[in-house]
Amino acid sequence: MIVKPGFMIVCHQFNEIQFMEEEMHGITDKPIILWLIAATAVSTISALKTGIHKHKSLDTWFLVTEQSTYVIGATAEGYIANLHWGNRLEKLDDLNATMTDTFFVQNPPPTYVTEELPVFGGLRFRDNVLMVEFPDGVRELNLLYSGKANITDNYLLDLDLRDGNRTDVLVTLHYEIDIENDIIRRSYTIRNGMDKRINVSKAFSAAWHLPTTLGSDEKREIMTLAGEWGSEAMVQSTELRPGVTHVIQSQRGFPSHVSYPYFAIRQVPSDVNPSTEVYFGALAWSGSWEITAHTSLFGTTRVVGGMHHQDFGWSLDPNESFTTPVFAAGFTNKGMPGARKLLPRHVRKYQKKNLATQKDDSVYHPVLYNSWEAMTFDISVDKQLELAEMAAPLGIELFVVDDGWFGARDNDSAGLGDWYVNKKKFPHGMKPLADRVHELGMKFGIWYEPEGVNPNSDLYREHPDWVFYYDARNQLVLNLALPEVQEYLFNSMSSFITDNDVDYIKWDMNRPWGEVSMHNYDRNPREAWTLSVRGFYNIIDKLKEAHPKLWIESCASGGGRMDIGILEKTDQVWTSDNTRPDARIMIQYGASLFLPPRAQYSWVTDSPWDANTNIPLSFRFHVSFMGGLGIGSKINEFTKEQTEEATAWVSLYKQIRPVIQNGDLDWLVQPSRLSELVAVSQTTSRDQSEAVVLGYRHNSPFSTPLNWVRLRNLDKSATYTIKVWGSDPHEAEEEYESTGALLMHRGIMLNSLNSAMFKSVVVWLQRK
Ligand code: GLA
Repeated sequence: MIVKPGFMIVCHQFNEIQFMEEEMHGITDKPIILWLIAATAVSTISALKTGIHKHKSLDTWFLVTEQSTYVIGATAEGYIANLHWGNRLEKLDDLNATMTDTFFVQNPPPTYVTEELPVFGGLRFRDNVLMVEFPDGVRELNLLYSGKANITDNYLLDLDLRDGNRTDVLVTLHYEIDIENDIIRRSYTIRNGMDKRINVSKAFSAAWHLPTTLGSDEKREIMTLAGEWGSEAMVQSTELRPGVTHVIQSQRGFPSHVSYPYFAIRQVPSDVNPSTEVYFGALAWSGSWEITAHTSLFGTTRVVGGMHHQDFGWSLDPNESFTTPVFAAGFTNKGMPGARKLLPRHVRKYQKKNLATQKDDSVYHPVLYNSWEAMTFDISVDKQLELAEMAAPLGIELFVVDDGWFGARDNDSAGLGDWYVNKKKFPHGMKPLADRVHELGMKFGIWYEPEGVNPNSDLYREHPDWVFYYDARNQLVLNLALPEVQEYLFNSMSSFITDNDVDYIKWDMNRPWGEVSMHNYDRNPREAWTLSVRGFYNIIDKLKEAHPKLWIESCASGGGRMDIGILEKTDQVWTSDNTRPDARIMIQYGASLFLPPRAQYSWVTDSPWDANTNIPLSFRFHVSFMGGLGIGSKINEFTKEQTEEATAWVSLYKQIRPVIQNGDLDWLVQPSRLSELVAVSQTTSRDQSEAVVLGYRHNSPFSTPLNWVRLRNLDKSATYTIKVWGSDPHEAEEEYESTGALLMHRGIMLNSLNSAMFKSVVVWLQRK
């Protein structure tokens, strides 16, 4: 008997046979006996391997990651629809894309098809992602599968769509799967195949479709991050209700503090459904953005998102194309801890892939000193030298000069834009300070706010036409869409970096954009929103290329620009200007949903400054131990004891930093504004050989002992040695051994958190 690919055999080994067909696709005329032997050999492994596979006969594609499967298919009419997103499937099931068979007059089928790219046009009445205006006034699209699909290297899929109406608009959907982290990265390219200019007036990146909840009483919640300056990334959780759309957004030109381009939708476990399924996603775009999630009466949810559609516009001349930013999303059945592990790992993976400075996990993020909080604008070469001399013996590895070193910059009303050294403060330029910092064994870093310009600056007087005009904080925003502005910034920054051996830049941006436009531009002036972000990316890329060892920190009045896109271009982010440690715990809790621990910086400072709140140095360090560590205190006013204590904490941090910076950050007790003011985190190395638990108690009004805290993700059969530090870095206050199973199933007591205010511990576990 001869079997050919695509030939269907119905028998008890159907799974295996089908697997062979997939594996041997393209090979014909094999005797059945060989196929059956092969079938027996593979019967113990999962039939559907990770990667991207096309069904043998249907226009259906399976995107298979370690724990999930995402299936898309073309209906007979040509709509590309999502057929499954969730737990991993076992074989190439015959999932045939069809139009919905329930036809309601008010809801025609295209409305309810789970289209991957629902456009504006036709009888689609749910949220769409793409809208185009044609020269004849038509604004409708009807994108249908063209019959062309391309799988590359088992992890990239391109699907071509054509407009089914009357235009020649071509769209290629791009899918990229991160197999180990169960994440799919989506974007698309739209091409103008007509002979006239068209205008794209909305270009979100993707639509995601969550299947219906299992029962009518079941609930899902959407978790989002809200904030303001100084209280970034506050976790919000809202029940999804049928007929309601949740919108999160920034229209400010940059991602902003007010909301973060992140969502997670989780099943709320019920008496009959213990499900811990979570769908989560984030946008890789450092401009204005929008994500909406609409839930239908059937319990399905459609999430769409991308560059904000308000005032968006992009012209496409014949043969031109436009590619959207990436919208990455994933699935886990391991609850929020699963989502919190996968997305930061994914971001870290793409950081490593894209940045020369991040290739090597054993190159750790440096302990830095920055005098901004201690001195603000009051800087000079003498004061900075004095601080540098004190910082080095503390164990500081990177010394950063913040705002105030350039132009006529004594406060925030002047000088911004004039990127040359202030001669009053640094009479011999910056090099002598940089040299001394290097001699002391530290790297040298400097603050820039490249997009900012004060009206009172030489730059503005020379180039009043380079800005977006609307004034806030005495400053305007440079229009980075203009090539000449990009060139000015790149040239002045690049030569400063070379001349002064700069190792690191803190790239700040302190105000939202207004009056965004392109003047005297023969295309759509709305392009300015997108072009400026691309201009910003372009300068960073060029600086990184010209200075391959340069590290960059992304800052925007604290955590205003920490989307996952910027982390493919920069090394780390400044999470918040609020360095008060009890506030910082809450901020770090939210930001840990998407930031890799090493990228999230936190400084030990003197905040708050009111004399009544006495927070011990140990508590301050322990909070900043959670990611990249910095110090911003008045170290020149430290007592001898404080200096010794700080030095010892820095030294302990360096010992545990391999786990902290490369591990997975999880939370065992979540911080809450309302609870007992306790929070416990656990960072675990990927091989489970080490973990660091950080425990905090801000207050203890009831003096009841803390409950046991159960650890997670350990090797249950291994024995761990456990060392616990409280307020004294010189000596561990407890040292003992325990098995992974006991640590996870019974837990540990954090005894020293039991009384008094601002108590904290560091627990270091090492597998024996
Ligand atoms: C912003 C940053 C701060 C500091 C100041 C300087 O607020 O977030 O860290 O650099 O600007 O003006």
